[in-house]
Amino acid sequence: MKQIVTYAAAGLAFALACLAGASTASAAGDATKGKETFLAVGCFTCHGRAGEGGRLNYPAPPLAQLQMPVEGLQVFLRDPPNDMPPYVKEVLSDDEIANIHAFLQSLPGRVDPKTIPLLNP
Ligand code: HEC
Repeated sequence: MKQIVTYAAAGLAFALACLAGASTASAAGDATKGKETFLAVGCFTCHGRAGEGGRLNYPAPPLAQLQMPVEGLQVFLRDPPNDMPPYVKEVLSDDEIANIHAFLQSLPGRVDPKTIPLLNP
């Protein structure tokens, strides 16, 4: 129930953002706007705020440094094969997906433990 309320709130926030005209972007994608959309439409609830992945029936995959091309992400989000909810154009435009793509590629992803001083005294 709490999760449904969270999704409803995210959906409302996103609708308000659309009404405010907050969604124009170039084909290349805008990582800053992509981050806002990633949070507004709820991707983070399963994939984590830093794209680290890890929630739901089985771990939702990490998305940081996503290898999928932007066209692939658009096709995937319209009709996900397994456990993910589909994102129709009315909810998430192609430009907004391009922004999310740019955001995901801007995330650092996993850090090599050898580069963390605290772990390597
Ligand atoms: C309700 C949980 C949930 C939400 C919300 C969600 N995902 Fe997912 N996602 C999953 C799960 C579980 C998988 C892996 C299984 C599958 O393909 O359905 C997945 C898979 C993916 C993959 C494939 C990754 C790979 O390496 O194969 C991408 C890309 C992705 N999600 C992007 C997104 C984006 C972008 C959003 C928001 C627009 C989003 N997801 C929202 C749960 C979710």
